[in-house]
Amino acid sequence: MQFENSAEFAKKLDQNDPLLKYRNEFIFPQHNGKDVIYFTGNSLGLQPKTAKKYIDEIMRDWANLGVEGHFKAEKPWWDYHERFAEKLSKVVGAKPEEITVMNTLTVNLHLLLASFYRPTKKRFKIICEEKAFPSDQYMLTSQARFHGFDPKEAIVEVKKRPGEHHFRTEDILQVIEETDEECALVLIGGVNYYSGQVLEMQKITEAGHKVGAFVGWDLAHAAGNVELKLHEWNVDFAAWCSYKYMNSGPGNASGCFINKKHHGKKDIPRFEGWWGHNKERRFLMEPEFDPEPDANAWQISNAPVLAMAPYLASLQLFDEVGMPALIEKRNKIVAYLVFILKEIDKEVESSFEIITPKARGTQLSVFLHGEGKSLFNYLMKNGIIPDWREPNVIRLAPAPFYCSFEDMYNFGQILKRGIQSK
Ligand SMILES: Cc1ncc(COP(=O)(O)O)c(C=O)c1O
Repeated sequence: MQFENSAEFAKKLDQNDPLLKYRNEFIFPQHNGKDVIYFTGNSLGLQPKTAKKYIDEIMRDWANLGVEGHFKAEKPWWDYHERFAEKLSKVVGAKPEEITVMNTLTVNLHLLLASFYRPTKKRFKIICEEKAFPSDQYMLTSQARFHGFDPKEAIVEVKKRPGEHHFRTEDILQVIEETDEECALVLIGGVNYYSGQVLEMQKITEAGHKVGAFVGWDLAHAAGNVELKLHEWNVDFAAWCSYKYMNSGPGNASGCFINKKHHGKKDIPRFEGWWGHNKERRFLMEPEFDPEPDANAWQISNAPVLAMAPYLASLQLFDEVGMPALIEKRNKIVAYLVFILKEIDKEVESSFEIITPKARGTQLSVFLHGEGKSLFNYLMKNGIIPDWREPNVIRLAPAPFYCSFEDMYNFGQILKRGIQSK
């Protein structure tokens, strides 16, 4: 499609956008009485208007029913977490029984590693990407130490090539092959948080299995953003936070995928708790742990239903719209944003460099050569919310649920003024 850098053209794109009405399902922060241009759906998604209703429902049931709410609430609390599986399975390409929702992301990765990082003297290495999200680095380092290994030996980082901003699949595969029988686990971010690169998860999973390792994915930046087929790709496990593209609210619960092939095994190590016990017998308070037959066996504590309510509200919207429609709009709006950036670049003779490769989702990471934090601050003061990563990258993620093409056009105009007003 031939794009144009004009308000009329952007408005026309909006009129033809089948998801346009969903913008009104979200609450936008205001700037001078107008909706901000929100580019940080990759960090904290906007609040769905229905989130409050879902919370209020629990508050009402708690007020009216007290402890009875566990069984008699409109959405009973004792199995509240099970309401996510069906809908989430469509978002990440899994079977419903492979999904469970609990805790937060780093906590879940630790818990999943209790099952999937079982190092031996010979096979003890973990392959991850260089400069993985810091929490993942701390998590992996502490896991290696916990098992008595020196993280410097146990953790093998795949590097980017000098001067490049993304990982090459062949380099990842080579590191896996070379680590061979020493490789216990491959655990990488499915979408890189810094560059927005989408990794070739299927190929990498296959390669990890070929050398006899477990393969898991941190899907913080992938869930609700890109197409995932976790079951088909034969991924062992994955976890994601829900407050980014999934719009569940700050610090909200994490989703987990545990491949069906690992269910029901008696010998799988796991940190256990009563919410993972056979649910029909949970309240018999039996001394022996009898795991649920599916991913729910990894549950530990009773579900924080008040916190989880907005996640369920948001998931309802995902179910209505579906990932294919979101991805279609995402491709178009991101392409339009690329076009706008290039147009502004020409007009102001600046030199933006989009470091996100073609294998991308919603996020564009842009190097602002010659421009510093002052430009970022200008954008913030003028009703735009992007985010900043040192040394001079802004990340722009126009979430397809609620960002408009007109937002992209307006962003370009403000960006131009910001550069010209220096
Ligand atoms: C890629 C990635 N991994 C892990 C985390 C940590 O998430 P949490 O604080 O929910 O454990 C984040 C948070 O932004 C992230 O982006």
